[in-house]
Amino acid sequence: MPSHLAIEDAYMFTDLIAGLFSHDLAIDLGTANTLVYVKGKGLICSEPSVVAVVNDGNGRGDRVLAVGHDAKAMLGRTPSGIRAIRPIKDGVIADFEITEAMLRYFIQRAHKRGKMVRPRIVICVPPCITSVEKRAVRESALSAGAREVYLIEEPMAAAIGAGLDVTAATGNMVVDIGGGTTDVAVISLSGIVTSRSIRTGGDKMDEAIINYVKRKYNMLVGERTAEQVKLTVGTACVDAKTEVMDVKGRDLVAGIPKVVAASSDEIREALVEPIHAIVETVHLTLEKTPPELAADIVDRGIMLVGGGSLLRDLDVVLRQETKLPILRSDDPFTAVVHGAGAALDNLPLLKDVALD
Ligand SMILES: Nc1ncnc2c1ncn2[C@@H]1O[C@H](COP(=O)(O)OP(=O)(O)OP(=O)(O)O)[C@@H](O)[C@H]1O
Ligand SMILES: [Mg+2]
Repeated sequence: MPSHLAIEDAYMFTDLIAGLFSHDLAIDLGTANTLVYVKGKGLICSEPSVVAVVNDGNGRGDRVLAVGHDAKAMLGRTPSGIRAIRPIKDGVIADFEITEAMLRYFIQRAHKRGKMVRPRIVICVPPCITSVEKRAVRESALSAGAREVYLIEEPMAAAIGAGLDVTAATGNMVVDIGGGTTDVAVISLSGIVTSRSIRTGGDKMDEAIINYVKRKYNMLVGERTAEQVKLTVGTACVDAKTEVMDVKGRDLVAGIPKVVAASSDEIREALVEPIHAIVETVHLTLEKTPPELAADIVDRGIMLVGGGSLLRDLDVVLRQETKLPILRSDDPFTAVVHGAGAALDNLPLLKDVALD
């Protein structure tokens, strides 16, 4: 037997053994939330993409204090020395070291008993990712303990997760409104035919609320409060029912805490810009879609995923603006990770849809 074959066989054998003992993972590394799916077990965790670090001042750099929920609770409330960091900004990795620490934490969680075997990992990435960013994501995962890394574009994973047949010769449009980005993509024959991403998503909506409250009430509110306002009284279009909520913050003039009542009408006004940006992106993507696929979308509609798609009446606005059927996946938060998990369970599909 030629020696290179023997080496290849040995590799395959090691791979097989590794596969038996490791739990392969699919990870949706989102701006707001990171979700982890373990082959054979399903979704094992969904936590905010936040890492809290402390600098002990001993020259060894930052030490990770908490990841996920515990770290998010510290956002905006940290005493000096501790920093709560969101390593993914606008859908792309802004801090590689922290991302790697976060990945390591999630990989260890998936292998609770500290198994030594390195898992195969599928990571979902934004469709507009550059080759430098791709390499950095791969390297982060490898140094966090992965044996093999596959990258899938988020809209592709979302489409698989939402139950669309991505391998068929039919056009499917997916709109993923996440925390950092909105990705609009048309998929056919296991590939993305046309796509467009904007750095507008849930975070920009929160920011818009912060600015609105600052302008109108001279009051400063935190990110978490703004998000809460969006979830409670946020809406995308004029509604018969106006809701009101107490919003707490700091008066910019007097410098003391205060409370104002904000109505859903006001928050709709605050959200006009980000909503317009999302609608426009859908329009621009439709304009670039080849006619045969556009015809498919007229029949099949647009599939919405991502937490931002839960904004009240956003589907109504999109229906009015596009005149197309608008569907929302059953679980908008998990469509991406479930799609990546489904690809992990189906190696030919994974190889078909993974990026080079
Ligand atoms: N009911 C709701 N109404 C409006 N927005 C919501 C609702 N629930 C969650 N969100 C928003 O959804 C966003 C998080 O969505 P998701 O978990 O899909 O983002 P992500 O995948 O982490 O981000 P990205 O895909 O951009 O990297 C947050 O901005 C959150 O405030
Ligand atoms: Mg996402």
